[in-house]
Amino acid sequence: MIRDEAKLRAYYANPPEDVCLEDIDLDRVPRHVSFIMDGNGRWAQAKGLPRSSGHAAGVDSLREVVTTSVRLGIDVLSAYAFSTENWRRSQEEVGLLMHLFATTLVHELPLFHQENVRLQFLGDISELPAETREVFLRGLSETADHDGMTFALAVNYGSRAELVRAARSIARDVGAGTLGADQIDEDLFASRLYTQGLPDPELLVRTSGELRLSNYLLWQLAYTEIFVTDVLWPDFTKWDYLRAIRAYQGRDRRFGGVSTA
Ligand code: FPP
Repeated sequence: MIRDEAKLRAYYANPPEDVCLEDIDLDRVPRHVSFIMDGNGRWAQAKGLPRSSGHAAGVDSLREVVTTSVRLGIDVLSAYAFSTENWRRSQEEVGLLMHLFATTLVHELPLFHQENVRLQFLGDISELPAETREVFLRGLSETADHDGMTFALAVNYGSRAELVRAARSIARDVGAGTLGADQIDEDLFASRLYTQGLPDPELLVRTSGELRLSNYLLWQLAYTEIFVTDVLWPDFTKWDYLRAIRAYQGRDRRFGGVSTA
């Protein structure tokens, strides 16, 4: 993706003591960065606020991550907003989140237009409440022609459900005689996932210190570098993003082979 370096340098002016833009190699930024945004509830609780305030503050972090990704020239940004397991939360919290997703998307659409961001969803959005579903469909159609960064938001997403869905779709084709069992390979399987057409993430960032994948992109994360930070999602900034990329660039990625260094 084309990056405006002057804009990027201005954006990263006045760094804190421990990290600055010069710490990273701009020629080796990951193509696809994915985020598990965690810790909204704990952030709110620590401040004596309702959980909804944590989610509202989380929107600001997500906006900063979208902007930063565009500035850095990331091709694909993805983020886990709502899992298939999150329906187990209180009806009140689920309702608030669904409403927040809809209002946020309406509010942020001008930013997506300005930054040429194409929106995509991972997960079954047909099961969402009408308000959210309709806004999401509008977001999809209004940004479909944008050819800058792709922003894939996982909503009502679960990796095991995604894998079962892919297996069913393949089985149907085999059953109908349009696909032979021997034609099933990794590329074909990947083409039946929600992430079809997207490169696998090179870097996964998880906030709030939990060391789990939480049923997120189990297929796609096979070789992904994982960066876990204790920072709670609403406190995550463009500087934390640089820290994650710096750590990623310091890793020796071998993909099961031996080191080339
Ligand atoms: C995790 O914190 C966050 C979520 C389940 C919701 C993610 C939503 C946002 C960050 C809002 C912005 C997103 C969009 C798409 C508008 P948690 O509630 O699991 O926190 P906890 O683990 O501390 O309880």
